[in-house]
Amino acid sequence: MATVSSFPTVRTEIAGVAVSELAKQFGTPTYVYDTAKIAERINDLKKFDVIRYAQKANSNLAVLDFVRRQGVVVDAVSLGEIHRATKAGYPLTGDPHPIVYTADIFDRGVIDFLKKNPVPCNAGSPDMITQLGEIRPHSNVTLRINPGFGHGHSQKTNTGGDTSKHGIWHDQLSECIERAKAAKVTISGLHMHIGSGTDFEHLSQVCESMKAAALTVGTSIQTISAGGGLPTPYKETDVMIDIDRYFDLWDATRKELEAEFDHGVSLEIEPGRYLSAESGYLLAEIRAVKKMGEKTFYLVDAGFNNLARPIMYGAYHPISISGPRVDSASLQPAIVGGPLCESGDIFTQEEGGFVCSRDLPAASVGDYLIIECAGAYGFVMSSNYNSKPFAAEVLIHQGKPHLIRERQSLEDLTRGESIPSF
Ligand code: LLP
Repeated sequence: MATVSSFPTVRTEIAGVAVSELAKQFGTPTYVYDTAKIAERINDLKKFDVIRYAQKANSNLAVLDFVRRQGVVVDAVSLGEIHRATKAGYPLTGDPHPIVYTADIFDRGVIDFLKKNPVPCNAGSPDMITQLGEIRPHSNVTLRINPGFGHGHSQKTNTGGDTSKHGIWHDQLSECIERAKAAKVTISGLHMHIGSGTDFEHLSQVCESMKAAALTVGTSIQTISAGGGLPTPYKETDVMIDIDRYFDLWDATRKELEAEFDHGVSLEIEPGRYLSAESGYLLAEIRAVKKMGEKTFYLVDAGFNNLARPIMYGAYHPISISGPRVDSASLQPAIVGGPLCESGDIFTQEEGGFVCSRDLPAASVGDYLIIECAGAYGFVMSSNYNSKPFAAEVLIHQGKPHLIRERQSLEDLTRGESIPSF
């Protein structure tokens, strides 16, 4: 059932561990993830034959290892993600395919890897079909189709329609079937992903397009993938998507195809955010509380180098405060900013860069500020801007915190750089 979400403004613990303990043990800023939430979200999707985690959302080895142990396979969009998956224990072959490479191009490094390793490919450009045939004739390929429409939480996360670079344009499918014949590769599956953080209506529209495309390809189709894009709640008013209803639509499409083809068709889903967003917290310390005219700013030691979603998309994240005197009854409007030397380093902003305030408890220097629902597209989008080291990452499993990435050191920041002698 769809439920309305609630987020606290005061938080004393994360997954059973005191916030102050986490900060003392691991320092700030630190990403903290709760395995119970990841497991819960995996469980929601168990009706699908295959859950393929879009690891771009959060690819820490410990997270990959955890989802692998829950029976989840992965998608990889780069050689680096294939490398991560193998380091986390995924074999290169298996049924279902443990790792699938999905992209709109093969770069040279990936081509060299694929020549020697049997990782299957999901092609997002007609050229990839031909290139795959050159290095791996008589193999299978799946095609990522752009159905001609898309939708996302922001224009930047919409991956369908004719202004998107993603996927094979739906009208070019017949041409791609010919290409595949010429390249001696078999189209064994189809995949559609229209955008991230979209809504039920838009997601469900994809079923009809999938059915039409699969019928055009014919009986070689063994798998269909609904892609990712499942929304997760970030605001009090956001409701959980009705997964059962979503599954039923896809299941009906799959069954229609099975009846046409007279063989089984496996139904995959490829969530990133849905599995990891709610599990993650960015823990920061308030280092200054200042007034600009009537406005109050809480300045913390995490910035858009750690979490880029607000500055990139105007994304809203719930925020809570932790401290000995913090009281949820004393809310006041505050703007939350980071340490970077750039005025856009504000966590409370809307798309377009408009700064806004948030009702938060009165807080002081030394209190902790927690940016919630930050487990997807958080750490993975961090940068070293302003020469800020990457944050530490911690995974809490059954009440016990484990350091899963050390905070970068100052030496790490300059590793690989050199001063030429001229
Ligand atoms: N499959 C494909 C082919 C994708 O391109 C993506 C996301 C996913 C699956 C997973 O989508 P999800 O279930 O996580 O929505 N940085 C943005 C999101 C970009 C998503 C890119 N592709 C953000 O922070 O919202």
